[in-house]
Amino acid sequence: MSTMKAMQYQRYGGPEQLSLNDVPRPIPSPDQVLVKLAASSVNPVDWKLHNGSFRFIMPVKMPSIPGFDLAGEVIEVGSAVTGFAPGERIYAMLDSRTGGASAEYAVVGEKAAALMPATLNEQEAAAIPLAGLTALQALRDNGRLASGQRILIVGASGGVGHYAVQIAKAMRAHVTGVCSAKNIDMVKGLGADKVIDYTSQTDFTTDGPYDVVFDAIATSPFKAFVPVMTRQAVYVCTLPNPALIARAFLMPLYSKRRVRLVMVKSKGEDLRYLKALVEDGKLRPVIDRALLLDQLPTAHALSQEGRTAGKIVIGIGA
Ligand SMILES: NC(=O)c1ccc[n+]([C@@H]2O[C@H](COP(=O)([O-])OP(=O)(O)OC[C@H]3O[C@@H](n4cnc5c(N)ncnc54)[C@H](OP(=O)(O)O)[C@@H]3O)[C@@H](O)[C@H]2O)c1
Repeated sequence: MSTMKAMQYQRYGGPEQLSLNDVPRPIPSPDQVLVKLAASSVNPVDWKLHNGSFRFIMPVKMPSIPGFDLAGEVIEVGSAVTGFAPGERIYAMLDSRTGGASAEYAVVGEKAAALMPATLNEQEAAAIPLAGLTALQALRDNGRLASGQRILIVGASGGVGHYAVQIAKAMRAHVTGVCSAKNIDMVKGLGADKVIDYTSQTDFTTDGPYDVVFDAIATSPFKAFVPVMTRQAVYVCTLPNPALIARAFLMPLYSKRRVRLVMVKSKGEDLRYLKALVEDGKLRPVIDRALLLDQLPTAHALSQEGRTAGKIVIGIGA
């Protein structure tokens, strides 16, 4: 049996529960490819799943390898795979429920992967999948953002938000980004037309109205945005809570406004869309920190602080 190095949570808890272990190398099923990872990246869901926050709705079988994002080389393909061949460089958001990308090898469904953007190295490519897919699906599918519309993006410097700013500009929207003073230059550099510093301006009513509000952070209540929403505006949020879920169902009964909640889906087709944006020079990852696989506890601890500007990437292997 072949083995590999992997970081694993042994039980629910904080990053101190992570350890580097030798584990069996996964074997691809007929519709999967086996990837030798060169890089991964961290998303808040990695540590949220493993600290037990979701244990009653999404239990994790321990020990568990966290991480959804990967970039690397196809080593082996399942018998039914037609779209990839050994030697190709791919990137993907793993289609497993709990991850598995903090390891030397991982298996991914053919439909969840795409060839890497040709202009990026593996660490840059691995910074994209989960956060980039979230931003794309939030704006295109949930927000139905159209050319010429105005969008407010809250959390514009984060993993999801910094892609949302660029994707919204690629969709020819007028973008106002909300971030703190230290990230204003970064968010402007990504193409935002306007920036609101949430540390000096605590309400959003000085600008707008907006056709779409994309709240990637959800520290302000929905009602904070109502004064700057057009009569048919869509409010899109990455963090569902019971009040927002109720609003999403009930709002059509009394308003033309809509509340939509994002649940990111792993889709190779959408990764090909993002690859094209990257290769057209319209999308680029910002790397906050690059760490190595055995430094994953530090990476998760940093992510938990909620101050990441762009992405934390993890280099794997040689
Ligand atoms: N539902 C889904 O499918 C889905 C998918 C992806 C992510 N998510 C969730 O969405 C959230 C964001 O994910 P992420 O990867 O973007 O997180 P992240 O990268 O960790 O976000 C950190 C960023 O948030 C900014 N921030 C913190 N407080 C803010 C505030 N009050 N206003 C504006 N910006 C603020 C920080 O900037 P400063 O340092 O300047 O404050 C930092 O740049 C997470 O809770 C994640 O779990 C959900």
